[in-house]
Amino acid sequence: METNEEELRIGVFVCHCGFNIGGVIDVPAVAEYAKTLPNVVCAEQDLYMCSSAGLNLIKECMEKHNLNRVIVASCTPATHEPLFRKTCEEAGLNKYLFEMVNIREHSSWVHMHYPKEATEKAKDLIRMAVAKATYLEPQIEPELEINPSALVIGGGIAGMTAAMSLARQGFTVHLAEKEAELGGMLRYLHKLQPTERDASEVLREAVIAVKANTSIHLHVSTLVKEIDGFIGNFNVMLQKGGSSELEQINVGTIIVATGADVFKPVEMYGYKENENVVTQLELEQLLKKGELKEPEKIIMIQCVGAREKTGRTYCSRICCMVALNNALLLKKLYPDVEINILFRDLQTYGEYEDFYREARLNFINFIRYDPDRPPKVTSQPDGKLPVTVYDAYLGADIELSSDLVVLSTPLVQHEEGRKLSPVLRVPLGADGFFFEAHPKLRPVDFMSDGIYVCGTAHGPKDVTESITQAYAAASRAGIPMALGKIKAGAIKATVDKEICVNCDACEVSCIFNAVEAEPFGLPSIIEANCKGCGVCAAECPMGAMQLVHFTDEQIVATIEALFKTKKPVNSGESLEPLVLCFACQWCSYGAADLAGVSRIQYPPNVRILRVPCSGRVDVLHVLKAFQSGADGVIITGCHIGDCHYIDGNVKAKDRVDILKKSLGVLSIDPERFEMDFASSSEGQRFATMMTDFVEKIRRLGPNPLRVKKGGD
Ligand code: FES
Repeated sequence: METNEEELRIGVFVCHCGFNIGGVIDVPAVAEYAKTLPNVVCAEQDLYMCSSAGLNLIKECMEKHNLNRVIVASCTPATHEPLFRKTCEEAGLNKYLFEMVNIREHSSWVHMHYPKEATEKAKDLIRMAVAKATYLEPQIEPELEINPSALVIGGGIAGMTAAMSLARQGFTVHLAEKEAELGGMLRYLHKLQPTERDASEVLREAVIAVKANTSIHLHVSTLVKEIDGFIGNFNVMLQKGGSSELEQINVGTIIVATGADVFKPVEMYGYKENENVVTQLELEQLLKKGELKEPEKIIMIQCVGAREKTGRTYCSRICCMVALNNALLLKKLYPDVEINILFRDLQTYGEYEDFYREARLNFINFIRYDPDRPPKVTSQPDGKLPVTVYDAYLGADIELSSDLVVLSTPLVQHEEGRKLSPVLRVPLGADGFFFEAHPKLRPVDFMSDGIYVCGTAHGPKDVTESITQAYAAASRAGIPMALGKIKAGAIKATVDKEICVNCDACEVSCIFNAVEAEPFGLPSIIEANCKGCGVCAAECPMGAMQLVHFTDEQIVATIEALFKTKKPVNSGESLEPLVLCFACQWCSYGAADLAGVSRIQYPPNVRILRVPCSGRVDVLHVLKAFQSGADGVIITGCHIGDCHYIDGNVKAKDRVDILKKSLGVLSIDPERFEMDFASSSEGQRFATMMTDFVEKIRRLGPNPLRVKKGGD
């Protein structure tokens, strides 16, 4: 099926999704409307477009009408785009000539009580997609050879498990550990739950297996200093034992299993001032070495240094289980010991709920404290440690005596992990842990192809979870290595050297070293390094740098199409505002999807335009939106620190701040333009952001450029 720019033949397929779309949106009317759009030669509807019948309908229409562009209006591309793209390929159409419109999560599910407006919105979104489709171009995905060897960074239980799994799959593995010994944090743990197995036994078995495997090349006392290259061909520089000499290895994939540290609660609850105030990890070491003096009364304090208002705001997930585990072990060792656990909330998921019940049966006490009135520990000369705690249930302070205080502190990213992040060019999240490409769809992948993550480097988890995730990472890394070749995505930057003025803005803005240029010379793209964020394209003042599939031409056409049918407003006339929302395809688009899945309603005045990263949004796009009649423009992205392209959102925010200052010159109130952030788990936040922004725009009234046009 040939693509001919002069003879565009677009097919639009609108899905009812059973009652999910069809119960709110007038699908037949939307399909009829689509037929009226330029270059649309067929528009069909089906009950389930993703069913075999729906996919066959698409293929039949492609054949019958000789379609060279296909648009499906249905659910989120996050789950169904690959299926529809594959269908296009099977029917002989390049998959980059397909475009998807989300009228379920972004319309019918979030405007359930506004069927008319939801239907209008679906029409708008399809019109935008048709305009973009006009400028779509077929792309060829380059094929990359994959070196069938891997580097695993970190020799804790996750790293050793991943290395063993890869070695068993037949790949060569380099296992780099910064310490002189393997084992990571497992070396300090005592008994592992739920089996009460000795951690040292598990460790010993793992180390013996790793050392005995001839496919694993062990590099202890070794740091990863530099990494260059891309999936299939990473050149890695290893530095051994502080020597200045570097050893170079070449690998096809990389697994990050660098583990975590435990937060040291210095200056909290008498820690380091009184030797009988210890962390849970230190307690485990005392138990392991048999060095614990028999205690009479123990108090454990949960959430020490975790779930704070700033900094370590996260829950470390495993501390409640660790406390229960250690409390039960202590009860077995010293049946008469009195144990009080002071907690904020107890999270004992899965089988650990049984541990909680067992703890209650063993007369371990649980006292809930108020984080605004945390417990107070006093050190007495006789070594006793009385603790005062405000019991939230009793509504009063109570005094407890103890001779051992155990603090449950969170896992934190350690220094080496922080240093590794820029070396690998993979992001850390706001909590400091390594940040996966997508929490649901790509939970062990990084955005950079060929690099994977597992264990506590990714966030707090117990040994079982770390091992499970290590197997997952090894399986993911094994796929390209087993294939020997993979197709790399075609969404990359391109440069028009005719227009380029050699300003270096693209090279300076690219954090992935994907733009190469002599100072003030013509740039060229290192395709393998380009992650397709589009930051360079947005920074280019000449429009010489473009991002395939998200070119300025395509984005501008989409924007113009949205406002094309909107009438000018007469002065004094009040109309429903129309807001354009740029959403990065990762967090904020995911948040909008989640708002839909959760049926969280927000005003139907918002039209979402998907971009790879908020950093792709050019000043030109925003100005074009206002010039075309947008009453408000909002750019949404991942939270600062969470951008899947490291700092695309920071660059977007910088641009927003500058542009807001200049909008007044164009008679546009800067309040009409905003940037906000949401993670893909924040559906409610996204809905609230949209509701608040639409309300603000409603108060501001119509875009004056729209009013002016009406008066002309
Ligand atoms: Fe979401 Fe960059 S990927 S803002």
